[in-house]
Amino acid sequence: MTEQAIKWWQKAVVYQVYPRSFQDSNNDGIGDLKGIESRLDYVKKLGADVIWLNPVYDSPNEDNGYDISDYEAINPEFGSMEDFESLLEEAHARGIKIVMDLVVNHSSSKHQWFIESKSSKDNDKRDFYIWRDPVDGHEPNNWGSFFAGPAWKFDETTGQYYMHLFAEGQPDLNWANPEVRQTVFDMMNRWVDKGIDGFRMDVISLLSKPDGLPDGPIPEDAHYASSNDMVANGPKIHDYIQEMREKVLNNADIMTVGEASNVDIENAKRYAAKDGSELNMVFQFEHMELDDNPNPALGKWDNAPLYLPKLKKNLTKWQNELAGVAWNSLYWENHDQPRSVSRFGSDKPEFHNVSAKMLATLLHFMQGTPYIYQGQEIGMTNAYNLGWDDFNDIDIKNARRYLVERDGLIDADTLLDYVHYKGRDNARTPMQWTDGENAGFTTGTPWLKMNNNFDTINVDAALNDENSIFYHYQKLIAFRHDLDIVTTGRYELLDPEDEQVYAYKRVGENEELLVINSFAEESIVREFDVPENAEILISNYKDDAGHTLRPYESKVYRYAK
Ligand code: GLC
Ligand code: CA
Repeated sequence: MTEQAIKWWQKAVVYQVYPRSFQDSNNDGIGDLKGIESRLDYVKKLGADVIWLNPVYDSPNEDNGYDISDYEAINPEFGSMEDFESLLEEAHARGIKIVMDLVVNHSSSKHQWFIESKSSKDNDKRDFYIWRDPVDGHEPNNWGSFFAGPAWKFDETTGQYYMHLFAEGQPDLNWANPEVRQTVFDMMNRWVDKGIDGFRMDVISLLSKPDGLPDGPIPEDAHYASSNDMVANGPKIHDYIQEMREKVLNNADIMTVGEASNVDIENAKRYAAKDGSELNMVFQFEHMELDDNPNPALGKWDNAPLYLPKLKKNLTKWQNELAGVAWNSLYWENHDQPRSVSRFGSDKPEFHNVSAKMLATLLHFMQGTPYIYQGQEIGMTNAYNLGWDDFNDIDIKNARRYLVERDGLIDADTLLDYVHYKGRDNARTPMQWTDGENAGFTTGTPWLKMNNNFDTINVDAALNDENSIFYHYQKLIAFRHDLDIVTTGRYELLDPEDEQVYAYKRVGENEELLVINSFAEESIVREFDVPENAEILISNYKDDAGHTLRPYESKVYRYAK
């Protein structure tokens, strides 16, 4: 890859903002656009190039904004369209781009389209959604919702079921209908015309449903077939995305990342093809599923630690297979995942700082575009102080409703342990700015209970400590901007079977980087071949102990070849 061939989004680092939980400006307990605007200088200080905003559109919030009732209006809880335009302008003034969430696999059941669609079988909008007759008085097929329970809901008005791969309030749009596609493309173009810089496309791999909507295999202990397996990367998906490319994405130099549940390498090579025919990159899920429960009926609900060689094998596959033909996105966290320091590192006080930095280094020296989820840069942890009465997330609530109460697969206490390990609300507790009232997020009552460790983990403390996780991220981001080898170097895994150390090289034409990361909580000894002329580029300890790797030690050597 030559210098000219590098695209801006390949050198960029994205900072993800979950608007509900970032900064409240009017003290109603809910984060908002004005709040985000007031924190742009913070994002700038970190050095991120792009902000991805989780949905800010009008929504009844059954799934916190992922159920959109008007794609062209701002949710009044977050502010007005004027506030949005002002945020965009202020971000641009600082050289920060704004990427919007695009949620078009489904709308809200409160969207005008769905209200019309359900009103009668011959309504104009009937075919905007997926309606089917009951089969023997039951659901039209045996698919399950991603949030547990069936993927169909019966509607009395017309005596048919509609499909909802997510919550009941998220009916799936019918992408087979060309009018749906054109309507969505027109809407997207109006956002592009407003000057936004890209789209993060929600569950984009699920748009094309298989012909005939056939039943799928039901795993033991489960009630439903996996919709993910039945639907992802369906027969027309690449056609739809290519059509979107022609009708929208080619109209501006925007960045696109598809959230591609169940994507495999072959499909990723197409979604993220270097020829630019579809999207720039996808979020793959495989490395987030390595610590799933062995019982598929429980899915992600588990608290087993990750086996490091599995992670190495998986990420290495993505690094090597996409090299030169497509592009990776790199992430440990987002609003759907727990906090990475708690999941893959350690949030014990003695390891918190070093393990969070180690995870950051490990990811940021790989090839791809890194995403940092708000609070990750200060090492925010899982929220163990939240209990059943505190959770807001429909995924957590449905897990209890179906897996505990209906199916008796586990008891509520066990599920609570799993939720503290994997639940989405771990990521959604409000941003911790200060050690003051509600961590400086709001003076009202926060919409979701705060993580109670903000007295020590907060932005103020991070900015006042030159050894903080924040400044480590700041350096990593600067390296991505300054060193082309991070963008273009060949990736090479070392010692795949080592259960405690993840080490790899980035190999350039004239130089190499050796990236060494220990996951051990004690000192261990490993011998690497480090040339005499090597310099340490970044590390999470003050000095270099040679072959001894201290707990969670991470260091990057740079040397000429
Ligand atoms: C994506 C979103 C998630 C949402 C789901 C349904 O996975 O990231 O938050 O619940 O899609 O829209
Ligand atoms: Ca507010």
